[in-house]
Amino acid sequence: MEKEIMDDVKKYQKLEKLKKWRDEVQPIPWYFDGLENLCDRIHPDKQFLQVTDIKQLSKDTKLFRFVSAKPNKLLAPFRAGQYIGLIVDINGVRTSRPFSLASSPNQLAYYELGVKRKVGGFVSNYLLEKLKIGDILEATEPLGDLYYNRTFHGKDLVFIAGGSGITPFISLLKYISEQNFKLNIWLFFGCLSEDDILFKDELDDIQTRRPNIKIQYILSEPGPNWDGPYGFITKDKILDAIKSIENKFFYIVGNRAMYSFIQEQMKELGVPRHRVIYEFYGVPDDVTRIVGWPKDIKASSTIKVTIEFIQRGRKVKEIFDAQCVEPLLNSLEREKDLGIMINNGCRSGACALCRTKLVSGKIFMLPEVTMREIDQDYGYIHPCVSYPLTDIHIDLTLI
Ligand code: FES
Repeated sequence: MEKEIMDDVKKYQKLEKLKKWRDEVQPIPWYFDGLENLCDRIHPDKQFLQVTDIKQLSKDTKLFRFVSAKPNKLLAPFRAGQYIGLIVDINGVRTSRPFSLASSPNQLAYYELGVKRKVGGFVSNYLLEKLKIGDILEATEPLGDLYYNRTFHGKDLVFIAGGSGITPFISLLKYISEQNFKLNIWLFFGCLSEDDILFKDELDDIQTRRPNIKIQYILSEPGPNWDGPYGFITKDKILDAIKSIENKFFYIVGNRAMYSFIQEQMKELGVPRHRVIYEFYGVPDDVTRIVGWPKDIKASSTIKVTIEFIQRGRKVKEIFDAQCVEPLLNSLEREKDLGIMINNGCRSGACALCRTKLVSGKIFMLPEVTMREIDQDYGYIHPCVSYPLTDIHIDLTLI
């Protein structure tokens, strides 16, 4: 009996010793580090990108190639069609803009982004004029819902692009042809003139090698030598090529004017809303022309914004002036002395990263934005697409 007890004690001591050794050697489960690293790799808080190449794509568009600026950090993987937010500091104003990735996700060594000049574009013009090889920029992780989903999108895809809206499709087409997916694809690419057809060589090459990918360039202002289709991307042109909308899934990327036109075409074709993905719209050049804008608000109105936020561990309150015709997020970023940058990605009301508590006051939110019901009920807004109509109070500590 005594021997049995002693054996048990020894066993217990051995187990305790083993447990102690395990705690010392492996204080956390063996897989924890791997998972943490993987999550950090896929969803980094931020990335640092270094420009390694700049290519002029057209008179007003450049293609920038970036590698990871940190030798021990790989670029975050992405899905063809997604975008990243590039963060810049322009004369003390820290802001960001989303840009679609044009490279293939199979290419893990670099990202390529197309940037087009925009009239009055604060960031795009800065990038086109100032960014040079060797410069380092901060960026978000890859974001966005415009990507091919095998389960829901089927095998017949219709891509409709306007101008620089071609960039996510370049990534998608490269990826789909590299993966040899058996998909039928029709791309309708609307441009102003022949000189504005971005990535024409790559597109022609893909079309030549992949008979299941058919591309139409449609010019709205063709030159005298153009013998291809011209005008707008109408339902007749689409139907003529795809024959029927049955089992087709539509992806649409362009500017606001193109969206309104294409939305009508989709309706007339009878395409159900759930068979269409629209990439984000961006904000309008003139919000007072948007349906629903209150006519009694003067475009020159200045609004007082009270903002509460945490600074050096303390909650502080500040007041600044904003313009009613500028998105609240932009006005806040202009207040460089506050040193606040609200987390953001799409700047179009889609990703919800900028979600902010509106304590009081009235705002105008762009009509296409859909907020979660719970956010609406509790008074949250997306400042990237919100325009203050009265003096307002926001609280960044209530997230
Ligand atoms: S930045 Fe995406 S919703 Fe505001």
